[in-house]
Amino acid sequence: MPPRTLILGQTLAFTDDPFQVGIEAATRFDGRGGVLVEDGRIADLGGAEDLRHRHRDAEVRDMGKALILPGFVDAHAHYPQTAMIASWGKRLIDWLNDYTFPEEMRFADPDHAAHIAARYLDLLLAHGTTTVSSYCTIHPGSAEALFEAAEARGMRIVAGKTCMDRNAPEGLRDTPQSAYDDSKRLLEKWHGRGRLGYAITPRFSPTSTPDQLAALGALWAEHPECLMQTHLSEQTDEIEWVLGLFPGARDYLDTYEQFGLLGGRGVYGHAIHLTDRERARLAETGAGLVHCPTSNTFIGSGLFDMGRAVAERQRVGLATDTGGGSSFSMLRTMAAAYEIGQLAGTPIHPAELLWLATGGAARVLHLEDRIGRLAIGAEADLVALDLASTPAIAQRAAEAGTLWEAVFPTIMMGDDRAVAQVWVAGRAVG
Ligand code: GUN
Ligand code: ZN
Repeated sequence: MPPRTLILGQTLAFTDDPFQVGIEAATRFDGRGGVLVEDGRIADLGGAEDLRHRHRDAEVRDMGKALILPGFVDAHAHYPQTAMIASWGKRLIDWLNDYTFPEEMRFADPDHAAHIAARYLDLLLAHGTTTVSSYCTIHPGSAEALFEAAEARGMRIVAGKTCMDRNAPEGLRDTPQSAYDDSKRLLEKWHGRGRLGYAITPRFSPTSTPDQLAALGALWAEHPECLMQTHLSEQTDEIEWVLGLFPGARDYLDTYEQFGLLGGRGVYGHAIHLTDRERARLAETGAGLVHCPTSNTFIGSGLFDMGRAVAERQRVGLATDTGGGSSFSMLRTMAAAYEIGQLAGTPIHPAELLWLATGGAARVLHLEDRIGRLAIGAEADLVALDLASTPAIAQRAAEAGTLWEAVFPTIMMGDDRAVAQVWVAGRAVG
């Protein structure tokens, strides 16, 4: 019989979307629960004592009072920006030109790409993040490096070669044809290989000509099983630029829609300053919106309106957007989402924050059947959080009267020190 591990601790499972069905109906908490892992999947769930009885042969890993959750899912990030995270800047376009593009240039060197890919995935795991959907650079080798590093770690990730054929420096531009050919070759090689998935990745409409967007729209139509990820309506000055570059477009979203780049498997980063038409089309198509709160404050982009997105039944996930985002931590990202919600008059409950960082982000990536949940049959990507990881957090958590009061200090004040253990497909990491 294959080895089985019984992980014990406090368990928190989401059975549904708490924004839609309410906190009580969406959550199952067990103060002394467990997860049985077998062959990389969750084979059983329940109370610790029941599970011990049912699975006497399993190796036991007792995490004490740690909270066992699905591993975090980061629905939008740029792994090539790892080494320039937290770079001071003015607005998005200056920040891209001054810091991002010079750093991305270095990924022409496959050794640099391999080095950063390994560093990045190790940082993610240290922060409890087991899945990411990452942009690469225009260099096909940057995508190869990330997929190889993820495969070596057994991680389920999504990634794509970034495509840009204008408004980017020499050395960071491809062409409509090379973007199509390179993306096609990469997706045929990597999409569905083990735990890996491919996202066709036009960076954003200012850096793609209409011809390139059309070529990538055609590729997506040929491979509708892939995701398509891009940026949408992050800053007001960016939107003006887009409308100037595409004079025939009704709005920013239309610059994608016209070219076949709007769909249910589309993942749109930021999506802050949207018109009513854009909101309606995004909801109708079931597209994914990605809230990137640390980035939106760091680059000064604006306040994502979570209340409105929920009322419109938009599909929303949470993401760091590193290195525009200022942290690798989904805990820090949840804290920023809470703070932005407060400024917008939408207090987001800790259950909703945790769901956005797990099941919600997985749903945006169309991976909700596999990851982002504690359920029998789901892949065993798990994190155990120490809810008393620093003296400041511990003294607050000690006063907690409810689960949510115990968890919220870690959401607001926690970082990688709160990550007691991570499992990738049932394998303990580190
Ligand atoms: N828009 C286009 N590219 C980027 C990027 O790398 N980061 C962010 N935050 N916004 C973008
Ligand atoms: Zn981004």
